[in-house]
Amino acid sequence: MASSKIILGAIFVASFYLSASFAFPGHHEGAYPVGNSLSPDYYKFTCPQADEIVVSILKKAIAKEQRIAASLLRLLFHDCFVQGCDASVLLDDTEEVVSEKNAIPNKNSIRGFEVIDEIKTALEEACPHTVSCADTIALAARASTVLSGGPYWELPLGRRDSKTANMKLANKNLPPPNATLHRLIKFFQRQGLDKVDLVALSGTVLDYWHIFNVQDKPLT
Ligand code: HEM
Repeated sequence: MASSKIILGAIFVASFYLSASFAFPGHHEGAYPVGNSLSPDYYKFTCPQADEIVVSILKKAIAKEQRIAASLLRLLFHDCFVQGCDASVLLDDTEEVVSEKNAIPNKNSIRGFEVIDEIKTALEEACPHTVSCADTIALAARASTVLSGGPYWELPLGRRDSKTANMKLANKNLPPPNATLHRLIKFFQRQGLDKVDLVALSGTVLDYWHIFNVQDKPLT
């Protein structure tokens, strides 16, 4: 019970900042394909029911296992930190692809793929070849947050899917649990995110003063 409260709390706090990081292209442009203009209305005419489909499947998935909401939020984070929010995290090993799923921070840890598959199948049935996998992950992260009692945020859509994955970059860009605060700041800076983003996205309950004074080295 306590751990599910912590997870829900983390989702709630972190999701406030998703709009400023994973959601808005201007904030860290590296996450979005050049020349692709994102819009919350991207599927307004081609798949207006997309969000409804995502929400209806997630309602069932969360009723079955509450943790899945947290896992899907993390899936978006792990997708976006490796060559942008391009669904590269979904790709399995092939002759050409070395899957990010086997990167150290992901192996036996990242989860939610079955639910994403289920959502994507339903989206394909309703609107064939329309909604990208990258948008499916982003929509699932938002719906998970909202269904867990967190806030709704406007989500620009129109991400394109990558045909390649980058396991090396996943190992390089996804922060390990033993990273110092200084290294965490560097990991986030690499994505165009600042210290405020780091604190908010980490869903920490600590305030800035505490966070930035318990460290061994002064921060610049
Ligand atoms: C700041 C650097 C971060 C580090 C070092 C970190 C590390 C970790 C680790 C080690 C786990 C446990 C994984 C496991 O048990 O297999 C975890 C879980 C989780 N992380 Fe992070 N994380 C970070 C930032 C974030 C961010 C930015 C988000 C989302 C906005 C996030 C969302 C989550 C969630 C929701 C879980 C629970 C997932 C589940 O239960 O399936 N984390 N994180």
